[in-house]
Amino acid sequence: MKVSDAIRTKRAVRKFLETPISDDVTKTILNAGRRSQSSKNNQGWQFIAVRDKPTLKALSECGEWAGHIAGAALCVAILTPDPAEKFQTMFDAGQAAAFMQLAAWELGVGSCPASLYDFERTRQILQFPPEWHLRIALSFGYAADEEKLSAPPKKGGRIQLDEIVHWEKW
Ligand SMILES: Cc1cc2nc3c(=O)[nH]c(=O)nc-3n(C[C@H](O)[C@H](O)[C@H](O)COP(=O)(O)O)c2cc1C
Repeated sequence: MKVSDAIRTKRAVRKFLETPISDDVTKTILNAGRRSQSSKNNQGWQFIAVRDKPTLKALSECGEWAGHIAGAALCVAILTPDPAEKFQTMFDAGQAAAFMQLAAWELGVGSCPASLYDFERTRQILQFPPEWHLRIALSFGYAADEEKLSAPPKKGGRIQLDEIVHWEKW
């Protein structure tokens, strides 16, 4: 799949088949996150790959719109240093997320981010040390609705280019 096709066709997938994601595919996804760019090449991230069903369910309860994690074959929690300290931190995490999601899409694996608001609960569930923080996790899995993969982009799904781009000045 060409990068341009992946960018054009990729969409959020929130309902997944029970089909597991192989170790090879899982590692390819995680490696895309490792490979992504970061401010000063800091690589300020740790990824926790979760496949255990009760853990997926528990994480899905840590955000109002995180329910899709419960049905995912894989969840990747993107841990960062304290995002309040440096504005580049969540930008870097977003880069890693996008790389992982595009790599997954190329391999036929759908995904969706989840914003996690119950910070202390996520720490209890995943047992990570105090210097690391979790705000966003990604669900991955094979789409339950196959049509989702080839459907044309939603009408009105994205703002038109001329509404967001300014040339030379605002
Ligand atoms: C930073 C960020 C946080 C998000 N949080 C959630 C979330 O908590 N729950 C959810 O279902 N989708 C979440 N999403 C997914 C967006 O809703 C989705 O990317 C957007 O609606 C576009 O979907 P589409 O690509 O299918 O058009 C998040 C996306 C981003 C980039």
